[in-house]
Amino acid sequence: MKRSSKIIALVFFSLLLTFCKKETNREISLHEPTSVIQTDDCDDPDVAIECCFVNMPKQLTSTMIIPDDDSKSEKLVISGTIYKKDKKPYPDVILYAYHTDYKGEYSKKGNEKGYQKWHGSHHGWCKTDKNGNYRIETIRPASYPKTTAPQHIHSALKIPDNNKPFYITDFMFKDDPNLPKNMQNKYSLQGGSGIVDVKKTDGVWIGKRDIHLK
Ligand SMILES: [Fe+2]
Repeated sequence: MKRSSKIIALVFFSLLLTFCKKETNREISLHEPTSVIQTDDCDDPDVAIECCFVNMPKQLTSTMIIPDDDSKSEKLVISGTIYKKDKKPYPDVILYAYHTDYKGEYSKKGNEKGYQKWHGSHHGWCKTDKNGNYRIETIRPASYPKTTAPQHIHSALKIPDNNKPFYITDFMFKDDPNLPKNMQNKYSLQGGSGIVDVKKTDGVWIGKRDIHLK
């Protein structure tokens, strides 16, 4: 084979390898923890879970506020306590959450960075207080458009004693007609079933979820 032909063949196979790797990555769920940050700026839908925490504010309180002034959105407040394996309240746990808007879309404002370009504008962080308490003030997400997927809020935790963050079971809603019956007892990830019993009070959905870590 001529030298130029060899170079062309090399370039072709390199491109093919890159393409295959990309497709394999895309098959991995966003919930699949990976161990290495694959890009410098986390600007990719398939990056490592650590990227959830790259753009968080330096100062966090125990309340996460996700702004949404759309008149069609319904306010939602979820609070609870995170407990350690030994059942003691867990202070200084960083909780990250993101979810769809009232239309079921991960809508964007255009100023999202890194991983949040994929998670959309409805995202935020908070850190449990000295009693392990957290609070999320947001809007109730809708099912993905034209699907029967349950309403859900994705969430990941970063605990002080462990550098490796992890996803917990999505927050879901007990009154959601799309919530499959067999999901009621499904404990697939840390944090139990994730199903929150919400009640509407003065126009705001209120719910409680305690998170017991194993
Ligand atoms: Fe989702």
